[in-house]
Amino acid sequence: MKILAIETSCDETAIAIVDGEFGPGKTIRVLANTVHSQIAIHKEYGGVFPMLAKREHGRKLVPLLVETLKKAGMYRTTSRHVIEHPLRPEFQEIFEREQELYAQFIGEIPSIDPPLFDAIAVTEGPGLEPALWTGINFARALSLVWKMPLVPINHMEGHLLAGMLEGDASELHFHDIGFPVIGLLVSGGHTEIVLMHDFGQYEIVGETKDDAVGEAFDKVARILGLPYPGGPEIARLALLGKTGKYTLPRPMLNSPDLDLSFSGLKTAVLYLVKNHGALDEQTRADIAREFEESCVEVLVKKTVKAVEHYGARSVVVGGGVSANKRLREALARAIETACDGVSLCVPAAQLTTDNALMIATAALGKDMLRDTSKGSLSAKGNLRIGSKTLFER
Ligand code: KG4
Ligand code: ZN
Repeated sequence: MKILAIETSCDETAIAIVDGEFGPGKTIRVLANTVHSQIAIHKEYGGVFPMLAKREHGRKLVPLLVETLKKAGMYRTTSRHVIEHPLRPEFQEIFEREQELYAQFIGEIPSIDPPLFDAIAVTEGPGLEPALWTGINFARALSLVWKMPLVPINHMEGHLLAGMLEGDASELHFHDIGFPVIGLLVSGGHTEIVLMHDFGQYEIVGETKDDAVGEAFDKVARILGLPYPGGPEIARLALLGKTGKYTLPRPMLNSPDLDLSFSGLKTAVLYLVKNHGALDEQTRADIAREFEESCVEVLVKKTVKAVEHYGARSVVVGGGVSANKRLREALARAIETACDGVSLCVPAAQLTTDNALMIATAALGKDMLRDTSKGSLSAKGNLRIGSKTLFER
C-alpha cells in the first residue's frame, strides 16, 4: 500500500509518502517525510494563532508536496494538464476559504503527472479547526484530481502508533508489543491515558481535567521568560536546576482515578515567580527542574497505576512531550521496578512531535481493519480517540 499523508492540525505542515503494511512483523518503507515548522512565525506571539497557522499551511502545502514527491522519486511533469476545468463547482466549494492554496494548487498541480498512491490520508482532528481544514481541503482537491480514496485519520491515534515504531529514517517496523497496551498520550493539546485492547480498539481511562501537560510546559516557559515552544526550553533549563530548592504541588497524584490536572501547577509557578521578585538564572533553572519533576511524577504514577489495574503488557508513549528525557527515564525506571515483564515503547526523536509519518501509519492500519468509514470529511477540532470509561477501583 502506497500512502500519501498530510498533517496540518497545529503548527507543523507535514507530508509523508510510505509504502508498506500495517502490524507486527510488517515493514513500512519511508519514501519521503517532510515537515515545515511554523515555530519561527508563532514564536513572536508566544503561542499558536489558528488563523496564522492556517495561512501558513495554505502557503506551504503545494511546495512541500512537490519537495516530498521529488524526495520519493515520484515527481514527474506532464503536458496533459490533468485539471480540465479548474473552475468547476467542486473546486469552488473546496477552495472557498483557501485563496492562497487555490492559487498555488492551480499553478502547480495540473502539470504534475498523477503519482500512483493507493490512498491519500489526512488528519481530520483533533486540532485547530482552521488549520485542519486547509489540510483536509488540499487532500480533497488532490483526491478529486488524482482520483484516489481519502482516509481521515485521528491525530492522537497517529501519535500512539508512532510510539510503537522502531527503525530509522528509511524503514520502520512495529515493536513487539503485547496487549492490552496502556498508551500515555502527552502533547500540546492532549494528555490522556488510553487502554488499547487491540489495534483500533481504544478507551480513554484517564485524562487531564484542564490543561494538557505540553500546554503547561508552554505556559510555564512563558512565565519564566522562555520562548515558544516551552517544552524543550524547560527541559534544557531544568538540566541546570537543583531539586529541593522549591516545592510545587503534584496535582491529583493520589486521586483514586487515572485523571490528571496541570492548571493548578502552572498557577503555583506563577505565584512562586510573582512573590519571588527578580529571578536569577539559577532560580529559573531550579523552578524549571521542580516543575518538570512534578509533571513527570504524576504522569509516571498514573501510568503505572493504569498498568497494574488493567494488567497491561506494554506501555506506549506518544506526543510532543514524549521527547522529554526525564519523563522517558523515569517511566523506564518505574516500569522496570514495578511492572514485571511489561515492555515500554517510546517514539524515535523525529516521531515525537507532529509529523505525517504517523498519519500514514494509521492509514495503513485502517486498511488492515477494513475500516470503510466514509462519511463526509470535515475538521473535527475535538475528535476523541475513544470514549471515556469511568475508572472503577
Ligand atoms: O504533539 P505535539 O508536537 O503537538 C500537539 O499535538 O500538540 O506536541 C507539542 C508539545 C508542545 O507543548 C511542546 O512544548 C511539547 O510538546 N514538547 C516538550 C518537549 N518537546 C516538545 N515538552 C517537554 N519536554 C520536551 N523535550
Ligand atoms: Zn500532536
